[in-house]
Amino acid sequence: MSDKRKILVTNALPYANGPLHLGHMVGYIQADIWVRLQKMLGHDCIYICGSDSHGTPIMIQAEKIGLSPEVMIERVQHDHEKDFSDFHVGFDNYYTTHSEENKQLVETIFKRHLAAGNIVKRIIKQLFDPVKNMFLPDRYIKGECPNCNAKDQYGDNCEVCGTTYLPTDLKNAYSTLSGAKPIEKESEHYFFQLQNYEKFLKAWTRHGHLQEQVTNKLDEWFKNGLREWDISRDAPYFGFKIPGEKDKYFYVWLDAPIGYIASFKNLCARKKELNFDEYWNKTSQTELYHFIGKDIIYFHALFWPATLEGAEFRTPTAIFVNGYLTIDGQKMSKSRGTFIKARTYLNHLQPEYLRYYFAAKLSNRIEDLDVNFDDFTQRINSDLVGKFINIASRCASFINKYFSGKLSAQCAEQSLYQDFASVGDSIANSYKKLEYSHAIRQIMALADRANQYIDEKKPWALIKDANRQQEVEEVCSVGINLFRVLMIYLKPVLPQTAEQVEAFLNIAPLQWNDKDTPLLNHIINEFQPLINRIDPKQIEAMKMAAQQDIEKSTNTPAPNVEAATPTKAPVKESISIEDFNKIDLRIAKILEAEAIEGADKLLRLKVELVNETRQIFAGIKSAYQPEQLIGRQVIIVANLAPRKMRFGVSEGMVIAASGEDNANLFLVSPDPGAQPGMRVK
Ligand code: 2FM
Ligand code: ZN
Repeated sequence: MSDKRKILVTNALPYANGPLHLGHMVGYIQADIWVRLQKMLGHDCIYICGSDSHGTPIMIQAEKIGLSPEVMIERVQHDHEKDFSDFHVGFDNYYTTHSEENKQLVETIFKRHLAAGNIVKRIIKQLFDPVKNMFLPDRYIKGECPNCNAKDQYGDNCEVCGTTYLPTDLKNAYSTLSGAKPIEKESEHYFFQLQNYEKFLKAWTRHGHLQEQVTNKLDEWFKNGLREWDISRDAPYFGFKIPGEKDKYFYVWLDAPIGYIASFKNLCARKKELNFDEYWNKTSQTELYHFIGKDIIYFHALFWPATLEGAEFRTPTAIFVNGYLTIDGQKMSKSRGTFIKARTYLNHLQPEYLRYYFAAKLSNRIEDLDVNFDDFTQRINSDLVGKFINIASRCASFINKYFSGKLSAQCAEQSLYQDFASVGDSIANSYKKLEYSHAIRQIMALADRANQYIDEKKPWALIKDANRQQEVEEVCSVGINLFRVLMIYLKPVLPQTAEQVEAFLNIAPLQWNDKDTPLLNHIINEFQPLINRIDPKQIEAMKMAAQQDIEKSTNTPAPNVEAATPTKAPVKESISIEDFNKIDLRIAKILEAEAIEGADKLLRLKVELVNETRQIFAGIKSAYQPEQLIGRQVIIVANLAPRKMRFGVSEGMVIAASGEDNANLFLVSPDPGAQPGMRVK
């Protein structure tokens, strides 16, 4: 085929420091559908990804869980690969940025830019944690906003008043790693001169490589002026050492996108027919597409093309940007109880439900995608089961039972069939343009027509008339053939169902062009149920499990952990078991938490036991943000006599561990599965 294209597709490499959640899945499912379509159209489409394995957060997380970064990234990569594969995201290669290929490529690219004068060295001042002995990335510095004095604000902007500032502007700054006051310290860094590429980038970003909304965003950045980019980090750091330096590393965001090239290189070693240079040389005629989330546009649409251009590599054909996921209209967040891990979803629901739901809602615009679980259930049950699968289940039984599984020799409804086949180009175009919701609408309109056809012909009535048996065979064969065309159109979204349908229809893997030729005079197999209806109980169970995940993971250390010291006070005088039994400890769930005006240390909590809620004033404000606490289970002293306080009556006490001088506080929570009201003994 002369128009067979060579296409390389990448998805953003997920960080190897934690599990994938449903928010991640939007971009991967979007890209996977696109790739599957290209493959069905007969193009050479290669789809790669891998773990983003370097950087401070990876190093800190490994330390926190007591593993070496190498072991942690390997384990996380393994879990991610399993999640992707269970969601039918079919990468041709999944690799890691922590690889020899990547190291070589990063060094090559760095050296080329150095030689071209695009990288300069300069001494800068940065905040340094004297306890951890390391420079602090902004996200590990908190303090009071220099504008409105709000407490616990991050080093770059205030969430309360919206002011942006430098970490050095924060008042009473502290390191979130150790609690220590950061000091300013000098260090020499390498800076990539992005501004050298302004002319190139202005032209590149306006030449059809980007969605319109992205181009507009970039125009804003151009207006503000491109700034040089710090591509180095001081030890301790988990990454690649800069050649010729002792204690300096490449910044993770330099080596991460180069990981795309490394993953492809790794694939080339396995697939000898692939030619690395053909895909990555400056003059490459192949196509390169990156699917990314909207938060990493700057890296992909500015730094990345400049990095490639100046190092004699080809630049991307296009970058496709997707929005965020919201759950029931809310941002995905642990404090809102809307955080759902990919694995938790998979433990309760079929992957294709989510693939279909995303497809039914995705467009080319960079909008957030909301999962509303009532709508989700309704769409799957009515579209996929009620309309699509229904066509096959209505027709197959007649073919199997009365005609030995054989489809008719002629297509009795040529023109109806032709109508179905002729929408294929438009559907393929919608997929190609990332207008998936449009593709799905067209497909479901066809499903309605197919059902209407069967309703009109009424094979269940015809079969009773001995003279009209052949008509039943014809009608049901038309039905099966229309179903087959719909399966072709849905195959990029529902690859697993497609496989089952191929087995049922007794055919080779469906390709896009198969839509033009109906299956005639062909024996099919017994029909097996293909997609089950969702029972709302499954959704409930999934939500409950997600809530338990949150409870488990929010049992993470409170701030200032590193500075915590155990108390030296001796153990108190012994008490009898009878004394102990007087204390009624119970599990309680925090429903509300808020700061109280005029109280420095207290938070007002509303907690739930069984059929009862209580108000408790807890002195934990120094260690917890109120929103962190909502949904969390704690242990309370339930029979403590109510105490009248300045702000109201406190009806119990929350159990927390504390360090020397009550300086640090750690709430005590039960393992997942415990329920509010349970007795603690
Ligand atoms: O934002 C992220 O999750 C990054 N790990 C994405 C990296 S994409 C590419 F550059 F590697
Ligand atoms: Zn502020």
